[in-house]
Amino acid sequence: MSPLAGKRILLGVTGSIAAYKAVELARGLRRAGAEVQVVTTPGAREFVAPLTFQALTGRPLRCELFDPAAEAAMDHIELARWAEWVLVAPASADFLARIAQGLADDLLTTLCLATEAPLWVAPAMNRVMWRHPATQANIGVLRGRGVRVLGPDQGAQACGEEGPGRMLEAEAILRLLAGDGPLSGVSVLVTAGPTREPIDPVRFLSNRSSGRMGYALAAALAGLGAEVTLVSGPVALPSPPGVARVNVETALEMASVVEARAGDAAIFVAAAAVADYRPVHVPGHKIKKRDARRTLELTPNPDILATVAARPDAPFCLGFAAETRDLEANARSKLEAKGLDMIAANLVGGSEGGFESEDNALLVLWPGGRHEFPLLPKQALARRLADLLAVRFRAARGPEPDSGESDARD
Ligand code: CTP
Repeated sequence: MSPLAGKRILLGVTGSIAAYKAVELARGLRRAGAEVQVVTTPGAREFVAPLTFQALTGRPLRCELFDPAAEAAMDHIELARWAEWVLVAPASADFLARIAQGLADDLLTTLCLATEAPLWVAPAMNRVMWRHPATQANIGVLRGRGVRVLGPDQGAQACGEEGPGRMLEAEAILRLLAGDGPLSGVSVLVTAGPTREPIDPVRFLSNRSSGRMGYALAAALAGLGAEVTLVSGPVALPSPPGVARVNVETALEMASVVEARAGDAAIFVAAAAVADYRPVHVPGHKIKKRDARRTLELTPNPDILATVAARPDAPFCLGFAAETRDLEANARSKLEAKGLDMIAANLVGGSEGGFESEDNALLVLWPGGRHEFPLLPKQALARRLADLLAVRFRAARGPEPDSGESDARD
Protein backbone atom coordinates (compact mmCIF):
# COMPACT_ATOMS: atom_id res chain seq x y z
CA MET A 1 0.00 0.00 0.00
CA SER A 2 1.24 3.49 -0.83
CA PRO A 3 2.36 5.55 2.19
CA LEU A 4 0.09 8.23 0.73
CA ALA A 5 -3.04 6.08 1.09
CA GLY A 6 -5.61 7.70 3.35
CA LYS A 7 -3.47 10.84 3.89
CA ARG A 8 -5.35 14.13 3.98
CA ILE A 9 -3.30 16.37 1.71
CA LEU A 10 -3.89 20.03 1.15
CA LEU A 11 -2.55 20.80 -2.33
CA GLY A 12 -1.75 24.49 -2.74
CA VAL A 13 -1.42 25.83 -6.27
CA THR A 14 0.02 29.28 -7.01
CA GLY A 15 0.05 31.37 -10.16
CA SER A 16 2.68 29.82 -12.41
CA ILE A 17 2.66 28.29 -15.84
CA ALA A 18 3.60 25.03 -14.06
CA ALA A 19 0.09 24.95 -12.51
CA TYR A 20 -0.85 22.43 -15.19
CA LYS A 21 1.51 19.95 -13.49
CA ALA A 22 -0.58 20.28 -10.32
CA VAL A 23 -3.43 18.63 -12.22
CA GLU A 24 -1.20 15.59 -12.79
CA LEU A 25 -0.18 15.75 -9.14
CA ALA A 26 -3.79 15.87 -7.88
CA ARG A 27 -4.59 12.87 -10.02
CA GLY A 28 -1.49 10.96 -8.82
CA LEU A 29 -2.29 11.70 -5.17
CA ARG A 30 -5.85 10.45 -5.61
CA ARG A 31 -4.59 7.32 -7.35
CA ALA A 32 -2.28 6.67 -4.41
CA GLY A 33 -5.35 6.78 -2.19
CA ALA A 34 -4.89 10.24 -0.65
CA GLU A 35 -7.71 12.67 0.08
CA VAL A 36 -6.92 15.91 -1.68
CA GLN A 37 -8.21 19.42 -1.06
CA VAL A 38 -6.96 21.94 -3.59
CA VAL A 39 -6.47 25.54 -2.48
CA THR A 40 -5.27 28.04 -5.06
CA THR A 41 -4.12 31.61 -4.96
CA PRO A 42 -6.31 33.92 -7.06
CA GLY A 43 -3.58 34.03 -9.74
CA ALA A 44 -3.56 30.25 -10.19
CA ARG A 45 -7.13 30.28 -11.52
CA GLU A 46 -5.80 32.07 -14.58
CA PHE A 47 -3.84 28.92 -15.44
CA VAL A 48 -6.13 26.00 -14.57
CA ALA A 49 -9.93 25.93 -14.45
CA PRO A 50 -11.27 25.27 -10.92
CA LEU A 51 -13.62 22.61 -12.28
CA THR A 52 -10.66 20.49 -13.42
CA PHE A 53 -9.43 20.16 -9.85
CA GLN A 54 -12.92 19.67 -8.51
CA ALA A 55 -13.57 16.81 -10.92
CA LEU A 56 -10.27 15.13 -10.05
CA THR A 57 -10.43 15.47 -6.28
CA GLY A 58 -14.19 15.31 -5.71
CA ARG A 59 -13.95 18.43 -3.55
CA PRO A 60 -14.76 22.01 -4.45
CA LEU A 61 -11.66 24.10 -4.90
CA ARG A 62 -11.00 26.75 -2.25
CA CYS A 63 -9.48 30.10 -3.06
CA GLU A 64 -11.03 33.01 -1.21
CA LEU A 65 -10.33 33.77 2.43
CA PHE A 66 -13.67 35.52 2.88
CA ASP A 67 -16.03 33.19 1.04
CA PRO A 68 -19.05 32.88 3.39
CA ALA A 69 -20.43 29.69 1.78
CA ALA A 70 -17.12 27.83 1.81
CA GLU A 71 -16.19 29.06 5.28
CA ALA A 72 -19.55 27.85 6.57
CA ALA A 73 -18.78 24.33 5.29
CA MET A 74 -15.24 24.22 6.74
CA ASP A 75 -13.60 27.44 7.88
CA HIS A 76 -9.93 28.10 7.25
CA ILE A 77 -8.86 27.04 10.73
CA GLU A 78 -10.70 23.71 10.39
CA LEU A 79 -9.13 23.26 6.97
CA ALA A 80 -5.68 23.94 8.44
CA ARG A 81 -6.38 21.28 11.10
CA TRP A 82 -7.81 18.83 8.55
CA ALA A 83 -4.55 18.73 6.57
CA GLU A 84 -2.02 16.06 7.53
CA TRP A 85 0.36 17.40 4.89
CA VAL A 86 0.47 20.66 3.00
CA LEU A 87 2.09 20.54 -0.43
CA VAL A 88 2.37 23.71 -2.48
CA ALA A 89 3.16 22.91 -6.11
CA PRO A 90 3.93 25.03 -8.02
CA ALA A 91 5.24 27.50 -5.43
CA SER A 92 5.96 30.86 -7.08
CA ALA A 93 8.73 33.24 -5.98
CA ASP A 94 6.08 35.61 -4.65
CA PHE A 95 4.38 32.87 -2.61
CA LEU A 96 7.71 31.74 -1.10
CA ALA A 97 8.49 35.34 -0.15
CA ARG A 98 5.10 35.75 1.50
CA ILE A 99 5.30 32.61 3.61
CA ALA A 100 8.93 33.34 4.52
CA GLN A 101 7.63 36.64 5.93
CA GLY A 102 4.72 34.94 7.69
CA LEU A 103 2.14 36.90 5.69
CA ALA A 104 -1.46 35.69 5.68
CA ASP A 105 -2.96 37.80 2.94
CA ASP A 106 -4.91 35.11 1.10
CA LEU A 107 -6.39 31.72 1.95
CA LEU A 108 -3.31 29.66 1.03
CA THR A 109 -0.79 31.74 2.99
CA THR A 110 -3.23 31.87 5.91
CA LEU A 111 -3.49 28.07 5.90
CA CYS A 112 0.30 27.74 5.80
CA LEU A 113 0.47 29.90 8.90
CA ALA A 114 -2.45 28.22 10.67
CA THR A 115 -1.45 24.60 10.09
CA GLU A 116 0.80 22.40 12.19
CA ALA A 117 1.12 19.91 9.34
CA PRO A 118 4.48 19.46 7.58
CA LEU A 119 4.85 21.82 4.64
CA TRP A 120 6.39 20.85 1.30
CA VAL A 121 6.99 23.32 -1.51
CA ALA A 122 7.92 22.68 -5.15
CA PRO A 123 9.28 25.97 -6.50
CA ALA A 124 8.63 26.99 -10.11
CA MET A 125 9.98 30.16 -11.63
CA ASN A 126 12.35 31.69 -14.16
CA ARG A 127 16.02 30.82 -13.49
CA VAL A 128 17.01 34.45 -12.72
CA MET A 129 14.20 34.71 -10.17
CA TRP A 130 15.29 31.41 -8.59
CA ARG A 131 18.90 32.52 -8.32
CA HIS A 132 18.02 35.98 -7.00
CA PRO A 133 19.50 36.49 -3.53
CA ALA A 134 16.05 37.43 -2.21
CA THR A 135 14.57 34.08 -3.31
CA GLN A 136 17.59 32.17 -2.04
CA ALA A 137 17.33 33.96 1.32
CA ASN A 138 13.62 33.06 1.52
CA ILE A 139 14.39 29.43 0.70
CA GLY A 140 17.06 29.45 3.43
CA VAL A 141 14.56 30.82 5.96
CA LEU A 142 11.95 28.23 5.00
CA ARG A 143 14.40 25.34 5.15
CA GLY A 144 15.54 26.57 8.56
CA ARG A 145 11.91 26.24 9.68
CA GLY A 146 11.76 22.64 8.49
CA VAL A 147 9.94 23.27 5.21
CA ARG A 148 10.84 20.57 2.67
CA VAL A 149 11.88 22.10 -0.66
CA LEU A 150 11.36 19.74 -3.60
CA GLY A 151 13.52 20.71 -6.59
CA PRO A 152 13.42 22.81 -8.64
CA ASP A 153 14.56 20.96 -11.71
CA GLN A 154 17.01 22.22 -14.32
CA GLY A 155 16.37 22.51 -18.03
CA ALA A 156 14.25 24.29 -20.65
CA GLN A 157 11.85 26.82 -19.16
CA ALA A 158 8.49 28.12 -20.38
CA CYS A 159 10.11 31.55 -20.94
CA GLY A 160 12.49 29.99 -23.47
CA GLU A 161 15.52 30.12 -21.15
CA GLU A 162 17.57 27.24 -19.81
CA GLY A 163 18.51 26.71 -16.15
CA PRO A 164 17.24 25.88 -12.66
CA GLY A 165 13.65 26.83 -11.77
CA ARG A 166 11.40 24.32 -13.54
CA MET A 167 8.98 22.58 -11.24
CA LEU A 168 9.78 18.90 -10.73
CA GLU A 169 7.58 16.55 -12.69
CA ALA A 170 4.52 15.28 -10.80
CA GLU A 171 5.91 11.75 -10.81
CA ALA A 172 9.15 12.86 -9.09
CA ILE A 173 7.20 14.83 -6.47
CA LEU A 174 4.97 11.85 -5.76
CA ARG A 175 8.02 9.64 -5.28
CA LEU A 176 9.70 12.12 -2.93
CA LEU A 177 6.47 12.62 -1.00
CA ALA A 178 6.04 8.90 -0.56
CA GLY A 179 9.69 8.65 0.53
CA ASP A 180 10.33 6.07 -2.15
CA GLY A 181 12.80 7.86 -4.41
CA PRO A 182 15.42 5.28 -5.43
CA LEU A 183 17.88 6.99 -3.06
CA SER A 184 15.46 8.38 -0.46
CA GLY A 185 17.26 8.97 2.81
CA VAL A 186 20.62 7.80 1.40
CA SER A 187 23.44 10.17 2.29
CA VAL A 188 25.78 10.95 -0.57
CA LEU A 189 29.08 12.83 -0.53
CA VAL A 190 30.17 14.35 -3.84
CA THR A 191 33.42 16.16 -4.71
CA ALA A 192 33.45 18.51 -7.68
CA GLY A 193 35.49 21.17 -9.43
CA PRO A 194 39.23 21.72 -9.50
CA THR A 195 41.54 22.29 -6.55
CA ARG A 196 44.01 25.17 -6.28
CA GLU A 197 47.50 24.52 -5.00
CA PRO A 198 49.16 27.75 -3.87
CA ILE A 199 52.62 28.65 -5.16
CA ASP A 200 52.71 31.91 -3.18
CA PRO A 201 49.96 34.22 -1.82
CA VAL A 202 48.89 35.30 -5.34
CA ARG A 203 49.60 32.30 -7.60
CA PHE A 204 48.39 28.74 -7.76
CA LEU A 205 48.44 25.52 -9.81
CA SER A 206 45.06 24.34 -11.00
CA ASN A 207 43.25 22.74 -13.95
CA ARG A 208 40.42 23.37 -16.40
CA SER A 209 37.65 21.52 -14.52
CA SER A 210 34.41 23.57 -14.63
CA GLY A 211 32.66 21.47 -11.96
CA ARG A 212 29.63 21.11 -14.24
CA MET A 213 29.52 17.31 -14.24
CA GLY A 214 29.85 17.01 -10.46
CA TYR A 215 27.24 19.72 -9.85
CA ALA A 216 24.80 18.16 -12.32
CA LEU A 217 25.31 14.79 -10.68
CA ALA A 218 24.77 16.23 -7.18
CA ALA A 219 21.48 17.78 -8.41
CA ALA A 220 20.39 14.54 -10.10
CA LEU A 221 21.13 12.50 -6.96
CA ALA A 222 19.14 14.95 -4.81
CA GLY A 223 16.31 14.52 -7.33
CA LEU A 224 16.33 10.79 -6.53
CA GLY A 225 15.79 11.59 -2.87
CA ALA A 226 19.42 11.43 -1.67
CA GLU A 227 20.74 13.77 1.02
CA VAL A 228 23.67 15.24 -0.85
CA THR A 229 26.70 17.10 0.47
CA LEU A 230 28.84 18.67 -2.22
CA VAL A 231 32.49 19.39 -1.41
CA SER A 232 33.44 21.88 -4.06
CA GLY A 233 36.64 23.43 -5.32
CA PRO A 234 36.45 26.98 -6.72
CA VAL A 235 33.91 27.10 -9.56
CA ALA A 236 31.55 29.70 -11.02
CA LEU A 237 28.38 27.67 -10.46
CA PRO A 238 25.41 28.23 -8.15
CA SER A 239 24.68 25.53 -5.56
CA PRO A 240 22.26 22.92 -6.90
CA PRO A 241 18.85 23.08 -5.21
CA GLY A 242 18.47 20.85 -2.18
CA VAL A 243 22.21 20.20 -1.84
CA ALA A 244 24.44 21.20 1.10
CA ARG A 245 27.70 22.70 -0.16
CA VAL A 246 31.10 22.99 1.52
CA ASN A 247 33.65 25.14 -0.29
CA VAL A 248 37.34 24.22 -0.29
CA GLU A 249 40.39 25.36 -2.23
CA THR A 250 43.24 22.91 -1.91
CA ALA A 251 43.42 19.14 -2.23
CA LEU A 252 44.43 18.90 1.44
CA GLU A 253 41.34 20.89 2.47
CA MET A 254 39.14 18.70 0.28
CA ALA A 255 40.75 15.57 1.76
CA SER A 256 40.12 16.68 5.32
CA VAL A 257 36.46 17.66 4.72
CA VAL A 258 35.84 14.35 2.92
CA GLU A 259 37.61 12.34 5.61
CA ALA A 260 35.48 13.95 8.31
CA ARG A 261 32.23 13.13 6.47
CA ALA A 262 32.94 9.85 4.66
CA GLY A 263 31.94 7.76 7.67
CA ASP A 264 28.37 9.07 7.44
CA ALA A 265 28.06 8.61 3.68
CA ALA A 266 26.52 5.57 2.01
CA ILE A 267 27.79 6.71 -1.40
CA PHE A 268 30.91 8.67 -2.33
CA VAL A 269 31.16 10.26 -5.77
CA ALA A 270 34.60 11.66 -6.63
CA ALA A 271 33.95 14.01 -9.54
CA ALA A 272 36.58 16.57 -8.52
CA ALA A 273 39.67 17.08 -10.64
CA VAL A 274 42.03 16.98 -7.66
CA ALA A 275 45.52 18.30 -8.34
CA ASP A 276 47.86 15.34 -8.07
CA TYR A 277 50.73 17.49 -6.74
CA ARG A 278 51.25 20.63 -4.69
CA PRO A 279 54.28 22.92 -4.27
CA VAL A 280 56.51 21.89 -1.36
CA HIS A 281 57.52 25.38 -0.23
CA VAL A 282 54.87 28.10 -0.20
CA PRO A 283 56.45 31.39 0.90
CA GLY A 284 54.31 33.88 2.79
CA HIS A 285 55.29 36.62 0.32
CA LYS A 286 54.96 37.04 -3.44
CA ILE A 287 57.85 35.40 -5.31
CA LYS A 288 59.91 38.00 -7.24
CA LYS A 289 61.16 37.32 -10.76
CA ARG A 290 64.87 37.47 -9.90
CA ASP A 291 66.21 34.33 -11.52
CA ALA A 292 66.21 33.46 -15.20
CA ARG A 293 65.06 29.95 -14.37
CA ARG A 294 63.11 28.63 -11.46
CA THR A 295 62.24 25.08 -10.44
CA LEU A 296 59.05 24.35 -8.60
CA GLU A 297 59.38 21.36 -6.30
CA LEU A 298 56.15 19.38 -6.03
CA THR A 299 54.97 16.71 -3.64
CA PRO A 300 52.05 14.32 -4.23
CA ASN A 301 48.64 15.08 -2.78
CA PRO A 302 46.73 12.30 -1.05
CA ASP A 303 44.42 10.35 -3.37
CA ILE A 304 41.10 11.22 -1.75
CA LEU A 305 39.07 8.60 -3.59
CA ALA A 306 41.54 5.75 -2.95
CA THR A 307 41.71 6.72 0.73
CA VAL A 308 37.91 6.63 1.10
CA ALA A 309 37.61 3.36 -0.84
CA ALA A 310 40.21 1.75 1.46
CA ARG A 311 38.32 2.53 4.66
CA PRO A 312 36.93 -0.49 6.50
CA ASP A 313 33.53 1.28 6.49
CA ALA A 314 33.92 2.45 2.89
CA PRO A 315 30.82 3.84 1.22
CA PHE A 316 29.85 2.73 -2.29
CA CYS A 317 32.49 4.56 -4.37
CA LEU A 318 32.08 6.04 -7.85
CA GLY A 319 35.22 7.52 -9.37
CA PHE A 320 35.91 9.31 -12.64
CA ALA A 321 38.73 8.73 -15.08
CA ALA A 322 39.84 11.11 -17.78
CA GLU A 323 41.90 9.28 -20.37
CA THR A 324 43.50 10.30 -23.64
CA ARG A 325 43.79 6.70 -24.94
CA ASP A 326 42.96 3.04 -24.16
CA LEU A 327 39.87 4.25 -22.35
CA GLU A 328 38.42 0.93 -21.22
CA ALA A 329 41.69 -0.76 -20.24
CA ASN A 330 42.96 2.27 -18.32
CA ALA A 331 39.64 2.85 -16.59
CA ARG A 332 39.30 -0.80 -15.59
CA SER A 333 42.77 -0.87 -14.10
CA LYS A 334 41.93 2.33 -12.17
CA LEU A 335 38.71 0.70 -10.92
CA GLU A 336 40.68 -2.27 -9.63
CA ALA A 337 43.73 -0.37 -8.34
CA LYS A 338 41.61 1.99 -6.25
CA GLY A 339 39.13 -0.71 -5.18
CA LEU A 340 36.09 1.16 -6.53
CA ASP A 341 32.51 -0.01 -6.98
CA MET A 342 32.09 1.97 -10.20
CA ILE A 343 34.07 4.21 -12.51
CA ALA A 344 32.85 6.67 -15.17
CA ALA A 345 35.47 7.19 -17.84
CA ASN A 346 35.66 9.65 -20.68
CA LEU A 347 38.12 10.42 -23.41
CA VAL A 348 39.65 13.86 -23.10
CA GLY A 349 41.92 15.83 -25.35
CA GLY A 350 39.81 15.04 -28.44
CA SER A 351 37.27 17.23 -30.24
CA GLU A 352 34.20 16.04 -28.31
CA GLY A 353 33.20 16.28 -24.65
CA GLY A 354 35.48 16.65 -21.65
CA PHE A 355 36.41 19.32 -19.16
CA GLU A 356 35.16 22.62 -20.57
CA SER A 357 32.51 21.21 -22.86
CA GLU A 358 28.71 21.36 -22.35
CA ASP A 359 28.44 17.75 -23.55
CA ASN A 360 30.08 14.54 -22.51
CA ALA A 361 30.06 10.81 -23.30
CA LEU A 362 30.84 8.21 -20.64
CA LEU A 363 31.85 4.60 -20.40
CA VAL A 364 30.81 3.29 -16.99
CA LEU A 365 32.47 0.18 -15.60
CA TRP A 366 31.95 -1.88 -12.47
CA PRO A 367 33.25 -5.31 -11.44
CA GLY A 368 31.72 -7.61 -14.04
CA GLY A 369 29.78 -5.02 -16.03
CA ARG A 370 29.80 -1.97 -18.28
CA HIS A 371 27.43 0.61 -19.76
CA GLU A 372 28.02 3.20 -22.48
CA PHE A 373 26.32 6.59 -22.51
CA PRO A 374 26.50 8.45 -25.83
CA LEU A 375 27.45 12.14 -26.17
CA LEU A 376 24.78 14.06 -24.20
CA PRO A 377 24.42 17.45 -22.47
CA LYS A 378 26.04 17.08 -19.03
CA GLN A 379 22.72 17.52 -17.20
CA ALA A 380 20.98 14.76 -19.14
CA LEU A 381 24.03 12.55 -18.76
CA ALA A 382 24.14 13.21 -15.02
CA ARG A 383 20.51 12.12 -14.63
CA ARG A 384 21.17 8.86 -16.42
CA LEU A 385 24.38 8.25 -14.51
CA ALA A 386 22.53 8.94 -11.23
CA ASP A 387 19.86 6.38 -12.20
CA LEU A 388 22.54 3.80 -12.99
CA LEU A 389 24.38 4.59 -9.76
CA ALA A 390 21.15 4.02 -7.79
CA VAL A 391 20.66 0.63 -9.47
CA ARG A 392 24.27 -0.44 -8.88
CA PHE A 393 24.20 0.81 -5.28
CA ARG A 394 21.03 -1.17 -4.56
CA ALA A 395 22.49 -4.23 -6.29
CA ALA A 396 25.66 -4.00 -4.21
CA ARG A 397 24.19 -3.00 -0.86
CA GLY A 398 20.43 -3.19 -0.89
CA PRO A 399 17.97 -6.04 -0.55
CA GLU A 400 16.72 -5.71 -4.16
CA PRO A 401 18.09 -8.27 -6.60
CA ASP A 402 20.67 -7.33 -9.25
CA SER A 403 19.17 -5.84 -12.42
CA GLY A 404 21.22 -8.42 -14.33
CA GLU A 405 22.36 -5.77 -16.76
CA SER A 406 25.96 -6.25 -17.71
CA ASP A 407 26.37 -4.90 -21.22
CA ALA A 408 23.51 -2.54 -21.88
CA ARG A 409 23.94 0.18 -24.45
CA ASP A 410 21.95 3.30 -25.18
N1 CTP B 1 41.02 11.67 -7.23
C1 CTP B 1 41.01 11.96 -5.89
N2 CTP B 1 42.11 12.48 -5.29
C2 CTP B 1 43.23 12.71 -5.99
C3 CTP B 1 43.26 12.42 -7.37
C4 CTP B 1 42.14 11.89 -7.95
O1 CTP B 1 39.98 11.76 -5.24
N3 CTP B 1 44.29 13.21 -5.38
C5 CTP B 1 39.83 11.08 -7.84
C6 CTP B 1 39.15 11.97 -8.84
O2 CTP B 1 38.12 12.71 -8.23
C7 CTP B 1 38.60 10.97 -9.86
C8 CTP B 1 39.65 9.89 -9.86
O3 CTP B 1 40.25 9.96 -8.59
O4 CTP B 1 37.40 10.37 -9.40
C9 CTP B 1 40.63 10.13 -10.94
O5 CTP B 1 41.70 9.28 -10.69
P1 CTP B 1 43.17 9.60 -11.18
O6 CTP B 1 43.98 8.39 -10.88
O7 CTP B 1 43.65 10.91 -10.70
O8 CTP B 1 42.86 9.68 -12.64
P2 CTP B 1 43.34 10.69 -13.64
O9 CTP B 1 43.09 12.10 -13.17
O10 CTP B 1 42.67 10.26 -14.87
O11 CTP B 1 44.89 10.44 -13.45
P3 CTP B 1 46.05 9.73 -14.20
O12 CTP B 1 46.93 10.86 -14.41
O13 CTP B 1 46.57 8.74 -13.25
O14 CTP B 1 45.47 9.11 -15.43
